[in-house]
Amino acid sequence: MREKIEALLAQAQGLKADTEAELEALKVKYLGRKGIVQELFQDFKNVPAEEKREMGQKLNELKDAIQLELNRLKEQLEGKTSQSCTTNDLTLPVDFSDLGARHPLSIVRNQICTIFGNIGYTVAEGPEIEDDWHIFTALNFPLEHPARDMQDTFFIEKDPDIALRTHTSSVQIRTMERNKPPIRSIFPGRVYRNEAISARAHCLFHQVEGLYIDENVSFADLKQTLYYFAKEMFSSDTKIRLRPSYFPFTEPSAEMDISCNICGGKGCNICKGSGWVEILGCGMVDPNVLENCGIDSKKYTGFAFGMGVERITMLKYQVNDLRLFFENDLRFLKQFETV
Ligand code: PHE
Repeated sequence: MREKIEALLAQAQGLKADTEAELEALKVKYLGRKGIVQELFQDFKNVPAEEKREMGQKLNELKDAIQLELNRLKEQLEGKTSQSCTTNDLTLPVDFSDLGARHPLSIVRNQICTIFGNIGYTVAEGPEIEDDWHIFTALNFPLEHPARDMQDTFFIEKDPDIALRTHTSSVQIRTMERNKPPIRSIFPGRVYRNEAISARAHCLFHQVEGLYIDENVSFADLKQTLYYFAKEMFSSDTKIRLRPSYFPFTEPSAEMDISCNICGGKGCNICKGSGWVEILGCGMVDPNVLENCGIDSKKYTGFAFGMGVERITMLKYQVNDLRLFFENDLRFLKQFETV
């Protein structure tokens, strides 16, 4: 065995490969599963016990030497190909095919901002790390109230509580604290909830919240505004329906469905045969919330609404798994238009 190894070590110094295929063949011949080195390892069990240590070392040396040599040959080959690249025709037109496309969630968020921008809404943003006041207390979630459990919160600090915001409603409060009515704004942003990740839920997602405060704002204004939005976002024959719901910060509260944009309301597996799909929560701003922000609730009324950008995007583009938005798989992302 000793002689065999020595002979192979000498051979390894003189290996040659002119093409990738030749290199591959060498790899198989020496280091492959049925290659020479592997065979020697098989024979190793017949080596007398007192020589095992030395032979083992030699065998490993041989394996490393061949690997080193193969690496050197590989580098040589790559050097050759890259050298030949520099002689390419430099006057050829540049290939722009790697230009990026906007993320589908950005496309839809921008559309939402434009639709509301067209009827006079401004855009505002707030912090993603928030205090208890802006996420809960000012929004009329009483301390220890079970409504706080509606949203599974990621806390960063306790007493006083600091958390990742669970909804963009916190920006409603910031906007009302800083501005006097009339207020007409939307608030796009990222939100976080401690939820198990699945095709329909994620611990991180995006919302766009809307707020309109002025004298004599009524539920009819809310309904008409959202009807306008649904038609602009989906299609002009989209219908809406409002179902009573509950949010601590709005009274009355509602959830809005649109007629299923896939089957046109006839019933399909997206709308589970009902012809309707839910897209947002809304309601008239609770007077307590206005007062918490220093706005006279006798003089002013208003409405608020909040929608999930992922949900709207999934309906619009018929995406059936939320996780696709966060995987950064170019094959998925490239399917959406650049805007
Ligand atoms: N903040 C609510 C949510 O995240 C949505 C909402 C916003 C409801 C504004 C009513 C008014 O579920």
